[in-house]
Amino acid sequence: MEIASAPVRDGVDYSKGFETLEDETRIDSLPVEGELPPWLAGSLLRTGPAKFEVGERQMRHWFDGLAMLHRFAFADGEVSYANRFLESKAYNAARETGEITYSEFATDPCRSLFKRATTMFMPKLTDNANVNLVKLGERFVTMTETPIAVEFDPETLAAAGVAWDVPGELTTAHPHLDRATGGSLNYAAKLGPRNKYRFFLVPPEGRDPDVLAEAPVKEPAYMHSFGLTERWIVLAEFPFVVNPLRLATSGRPYIENYRWKPELGTRFTLFDRVTGEASGPFETDAVFGFHHVNAYDSGDGGVVADICTFPDAGIVEDLYLDRLRDGKPVAKPELRRFTIDPAGGGVTNELLVEDGLDLPRINYGRCNERPYRYVWGAGTDGTSYFDRIVAADLESRTTRVWSEPGSYPGEPVFVAAPGAEEENEGALLSVVLDAAAGTSYLLVLDAATLEERARARVPHHIPFSFHGQFAKV
Ligand SMILES: [Fe+2]
Repeated sequence: MEIASAPVRDGVDYSKGFETLEDETRIDSLPVEGELPPWLAGSLLRTGPAKFEVGERQMRHWFDGLAMLHRFAFADGEVSYANRFLESKAYNAARETGEITYSEFATDPCRSLFKRATTMFMPKLTDNANVNLVKLGERFVTMTETPIAVEFDPETLAAAGVAWDVPGELTTAHPHLDRATGGSLNYAAKLGPRNKYRFFLVPPEGRDPDVLAEAPVKEPAYMHSFGLTERWIVLAEFPFVVNPLRLATSGRPYIENYRWKPELGTRFTLFDRVTGEASGPFETDAVFGFHHVNAYDSGDGGVVADICTFPDAGIVEDLYLDRLRDGKPVAKPELRRFTIDPAGGGVTNELLVEDGLDLPRINYGRCNERPYRYVWGAGTDGTSYFDRIVAADLESRTTRVWSEPGSYPGEPVFVAAPGAEEENEGALLSVVLDAAAGTSYLLVLDAATLEERARARVPHHIPFSFHGQFAKV
């Protein structure tokens, strides 16, 4: 192991991380090197794409792969592993027909001209929930950006039906916890003759959403996440936008209907969480991003929103499967701080740290909506794929880096130690591809120092995935 800020150049082929994993397994006890924190009890549940070929066809984009759920369960210093495909309608149809049947992010089913005409205005929305999962009340729910969130059993990983209704055609897989109600606060785009951005709350029990706020929009921006402060919902519109009529009629895959229009700049709109009233938009330079890291009220009426950004939407192109399998690099993300002054209307924008990181995690339970100091993410310098874990201290503006030649870590999930005093006191859990071995392991780091505590090797590879959560199950 090596802790350094030097880039890792090992030349090892990491394309295994983009290969299909067909096997579903349950392993009671993985071999563990090192020592798991004795307090670590519960499960790391993750979702991600795992099947990229259906019949003769290959999914075109990393985001298209059919979802698989993974569980690493920790108890008494041991860790078990299980994985299972999410038995979505999209997955079941692919298995039964041997064909891609639902429209994914960048892959459409093959359709005859007649079928295309009849399905144009009634697309079969996929329920291939491969992006993120959350615990809402006692329910576990996995999500993508269509309005079909899928409940599942955290023990068996079996799918258990549609979790809630979404008041729109598009949503995000990054809802926020509404601390007051324990509900799930999320975004929706309502498309139709008049398009609207919406924010809605799903209660911990039940499936009927309450619309909290909405605003009209002509060409909605691609939206992957949003920010939340104690006072505001923070909507960032990056200028990667879609004409909904084109979306309905072009016959092109979903994401290929979006256009990069940098002349629009990046536009922040703040929605009052009590009244739903919108302030803004407040404009700054054009950037693109998937992930808000955190946001908070600055005390002087301002709003701070930290976001992993890219100079443009080229990262969407970078993540087409053929490019990734060929070892083409992905753009370097920039962790940027946007400070919005709702009274004066200004937005400042600064780079927080030099190291590139995305798939960001914070000590969410303690710090979401509030001032905070630490963020962890998967890192890349833009010459390869994500090949390191970066811990950023936003107070000192410094970073620590974990890397190991041939290792390609995914999102590092922070788990707070019981009774922790410091914000960064706990463990980081990351599923890492050992490219030379062609297998994956679960890596456990000390979150404060990035020193390795333990690793637990799985006998096969785990395709690179997006997001997961740690839960006491
Ligand atoms: Fe995401």
